[in-house]
Amino acid sequence: MTHDDLVGQTALVTGGGGGFGQAIGLRLAAAGASIAVVDRDKDAAQAASDAIRSAGGSAEVFATDLTDADAVRDTVQSVVARFGSLDIAVNNAGIGGEMTPLADYPLDAWHQVIDVNLNSVFYCLRAELEAMLAAGDGGSIINTASIMSTVAMPTISAYVASKHAVLGLTRAAAVEYGPHGIRVNAVGPSFSRVGFTAEKIADDDQWAAMAAQHPLGRTASPADIADTVAYLASPASAFTTGQLLLVDGGYTAL
Ligand SMILES: NC(=O)c1ccc[n+]([C@@H]2O[C@H](COP(=O)([O-])OP(=O)(O)OC[C@H]3O[C@@H](n4cnc5c(N)ncnc54)[C@H](O)[C@@H]3O)[C@@H](O)[C@H]2O)c1
Repeated sequence: MTHDDLVGQTALVTGGGGGFGQAIGLRLAAAGASIAVVDRDKDAAQAASDAIRSAGGSAEVFATDLTDADAVRDTVQSVVARFGSLDIAVNNAGIGGEMTPLADYPLDAWHQVIDVNLNSVFYCLRAELEAMLAAGDGGSIINTASIMSTVAMPTISAYVASKHAVLGLTRAAAVEYGPHGIRVNAVGPSFSRVGFTAEKIADDDQWAAMAAQHPLGRTASPADIADTVAYLASPASAFTTGQLLLVDGGYTAL
């Protein structure tokens, strides 16, 4: 992939102020795309946008709660109005939610995880597909799934269910919109010490134990994820759609 194959394109990145989102925005900007940094945390989004601009890229902040379907549609329309197109969308915002065995999992915690990790991805897909279909130039959409789209772990049933569902939604969108030249894929990170994961797991020994569960001997870095998103966004993956690309250091191969 050449460094400039996204020149002239617009990329929307949700959760753009978070650990992965910041790295994804910087990586896509380095490849030439203008970045719409979408996040409910306005300060984090601003910091990500500032970092992109400092590196010589173009970025704008869109402070949005993605669990509000109307706000999502307004945001996508604002992005198109501001930049003139929507070519790439990375639906990356997510939360970990409560860690409790399934039989005791609180209803409100369940609904919160499903709302942010699944419903918001549906709202984003709807609005992004509408914009891409109207422009008629195709597009590439990448949903941030997880190793938890294919395997499970105790105490995070809502998260596991939401990420399995994101894979289903990815495939559903891919088969419906492939004929319009719109590709829809998912990236599946393993554990990375950023954002809500770093907050929930604070112990160095636990991170060392998790690293040892990866054949490559470490956990994921935001750059690992950003590079894969850039590949899925670019023409280098032109014949790939409906796929989950795991970026897991071999975790799920063990
Ligand atoms: N870090 C990991 O170990 C890991 C592993 C696999 C998958 N993931 C996935 O990667 C994605 C990014 O996570 P991260 O690790 O960068 O975490 P993070 O907490 O750093 O980033 C998540 C971002 O999403 C934003 N967000 C949350 N709810 C929102 C809402 N309702 N509206 C708008 N923005 C909202 C947050 O403000 C935050 O900036 C998530 O989908 C997560 O499930 C993370």
